[in-house]
Amino acid sequence: MIELRDVVKTYGKGDAAVHALKTVNMKIEDGKFTAIIGKSGSGKSTLMNIIGGLDSPTEGKVYSEGLDLTSLSNNELADYRNRTTGFIFQSFYLEPTFTVLENVAMPLTIRGIPKREREAAARKIIGKLGLTDKVNKKANELSGGQKQRVSIARALVHDPSIVLADEPTGNLDSANGAEVIKILRQICTEGKSVVLVTHNIDDAKQADVVFVIKDGLLDKELRRK
Ligand SMILES: Nc1ncnc2c1ncn2[C@@H]1O[C@H](COP(=O)(O)OP(=O)(O)OP(=O)(O)O)[C@@H](O)[C@H]1O
Ligand SMILES: [Mg+2]
Repeated sequence: MIELRDVVKTYGKGDAAVHALKTVNMKIEDGKFTAIIGKSGSGKSTLMNIIGGLDSPTEGKVYSEGLDLTSLSNNELADYRNRTTGFIFQSFYLEPTFTVLENVAMPLTIRGIPKREREAAARKIIGKLGLTDKVNKKANELSGGQKQRVSIARALVHDPSIVLADEPTGNLDSANGAEVIKILRQICTEGKSVVLVTHNIDDAKQADVVFVIKDGLLDKELRRK
């Protein structure tokens, strides 16, 4: 479980301060598909970055796996992220001139996993996402839907327990977007915690728990199971 206690995030100081999150308390349950919805600028990405340990709150605590993430050094936090979490973003962030195999294996390359081992792991997850015929293609030769499936494979290659996706369907047509949501649901069924940030209500309807964020505050919590 990931727990946020009295989390505040303020960007800037004095007159220029932006109060992106104003005292948020929430629990992200293990093995659930959780959606965070809200209008543009409501604080969704700020919240996701704090849930994932990509950013630290200005005030408050974040607990995950028995750790207080707010007490970790930058290196410890990076180590926590690498161990536990896979990230998926709207704009994919693939290396355009690297192959699908190289992109997917990247998190393992960074960890110094030997080539044979990391490529075997990457091929396995590439196969699972139906991209085996693209394995040696460069990322910039793929369609948007294919790119997002590559970025999902990259997020899963180190077998994280938590998968965070910030507007993963934002750059996709509705068919490819629906496919991505289906994959996220499948990932959750296989036992991972999935957190989806979206402003698409139809996507959020697929989730087990929906948090509605409004002006930096948790406005509603809706659950199906
Ligand atoms: N690095 C930053 N520096 C200053 N202000 C920021 C920064 N990041 C976000 N903000 C501000 O914090 C508020 C919340 O931004 P955030 O990106 O979390 O919203 P969001 O809900 O993800 O929006 P969108 O749907 O457009 O992605 C906004 O007012 C935004 O301008
Ligand atoms: Mg955002």
